[in-house]
Amino acid sequence: MKIEFNVSPKSFLEVIPVLESASKEFNGKKGKTKTMVKGSKTILFAGMGKEKDLDLNEFRKLAFIGLIKGKALELNEFSVELIDLQKFAEEKIIQALAEGALIGSYSFAKYKKQEEKFPSKLIISGKKKPKGFDSVVSKALKVNDSVSMARDLINDSSEIVNPSYLEKTAKKIFSRIRKVKVTSLGRSQLLKNKMNLFAMVGQAGLSEPKLILLEYKGNPSSKEKTLLVGKGITFDSGGLNLKPGDSMLFMKSDMAGAAVVLAIIRTANDLNLKINLIGAMACAENLIGEKAYRPGDIVKAFNGKTIEVCNTDAEGRLVLADTLSYCVKKFSPSKVIDYATLTGSCIGTFSFHVAGMISNDLELSNSMYQAGLNAYERVWELPLYEEYSNDIKSEIADLRNTSKTGEAGTIAGGAFLKEFIGDKPWVHLDIAGTAFLKKPFSYYCIGATGFGVRLSLEFISRLMEDELK
Ligand code: BES
Ligand code: ZN
Ligand code: ZN
Repeated sequence: MKIEFNVSPKSFLEVIPVLESASKEFNGKKGKTKTMVKGSKTILFAGMGKEKDLDLNEFRKLAFIGLIKGKALELNEFSVELIDLQKFAEEKIIQALAEGALIGSYSFAKYKKQEEKFPSKLIISGKKKPKGFDSVVSKALKVNDSVSMARDLINDSSEIVNPSYLEKTAKKIFSRIRKVKVTSLGRSQLLKNKMNLFAMVGQAGLSEPKLILLEYKGNPSSKEKTLLVGKGITFDSGGLNLKPGDSMLFMKSDMAGAAVVLAIIRTANDLNLKINLIGAMACAENLIGEKAYRPGDIVKAFNGKTIEVCNTDAEGRLVLADTLSYCVKKFSPSKVIDYATLTGSCIGTFSFHVAGMISNDLELSNSMYQAGLNAYERVWELPLYEEYSNDIKSEIADLRNTSKTGEAGTIAGGAFLKEFIGDKPWVHLDIAGTAFLKKPFSYYCIGATGFGVRLSLEFISRLMEDELK
């Protein structure tokens, strides 16, 4: 999609945002629209509500309204007018408009005879071209490229997107890029490095498990580095604790965390961000078969703790446990974030609107919360009190991979991961609900959202400000 500025756009569809006021013919109430046709030109007035209640996300939605109307009218382009607000800088509005149009025009078309045709140009209009326009737009385009890449990987069949495919994809993306080093460990190297949990989860897989490491050095003079770990279960059948009925249907998306990590590192490189990041994609297939790991197995993790497997469907925390402790030891990062479609119970708590967050560091979780509001990829923290940690103690090993009580599943998952990060400041994001939609919502179509990429870039920009202080 092209995004341009024009003082007087000549497009056939013009979208005009209107703030709420009782005196006007169109009252501008939030969510209301009014369309006027003047010859060949359509003008769409979109109510934005009162400025004091206005959230930047309304501008993502505004661009999307134009996009859909433009699609219905079979237009190649449409325009949206800027409004002057006290509350938000013009650049933030431009960014939100661009994001709404870009995210909204994504579709997973690989297997469709006929692709949906959206307008291919958004014209933003106003009195004068804002100073930062070109750089804001170019940044939004780059970010969206990686968001779309993540969405494509998550939406595609697990038949194709398996651990070795993700390894090949990562190596290809960074093949000519000196700032990013890509390495990977297969099954025998996982075992050699004592990542028994990781190797075990993937041992019935057709494609061997892979730990894919992406080292991005954007600020060589700094010792700070942030470790980003993603759950990359390319298909989760549940293992021998097989998932029942339809609950297996969308489990090709259980690698969303890994896709998001790949997309973040790709964007960091594309934007030349002055920060050091380590991405770790923990990829495996959780399948059944004679080699499958079994309920009741007791296995030693990388950090020496013994784990009783109480349910083979709680596999994500097992691959993440080894990845977290291995990477903490190998890289000694200053901060750790993990992204995982970890628990069904997170969807029960938050639906698909908000990701669950567990952390051991209030400053970090606060910063993630704020980043979430800005990106409109929202997160909400759940408590990690010691009682929850008691619930994952085993009678016959150090830990069990599910809670004894079966309650508070999302917290139990976080409590388990906490045992593997040592004392590093850490945030765990359970993206089970937000990563993949079963029906379209707002400017997202059905399927993968890429949730976590824009969130993390907001978070990283805050981190860079802190590190420069
Ligand atoms: N991948 C699933 C979680 C999930 C469910 C993600 C639905 C997206 C949509 C995860 O591996 C899982 O199966 N978790 C179990 C844990 C339980 C056995 C303790 C769950 O949530 O039921
Ligand atoms: Zn599972
Ligand atoms: Zn899973």
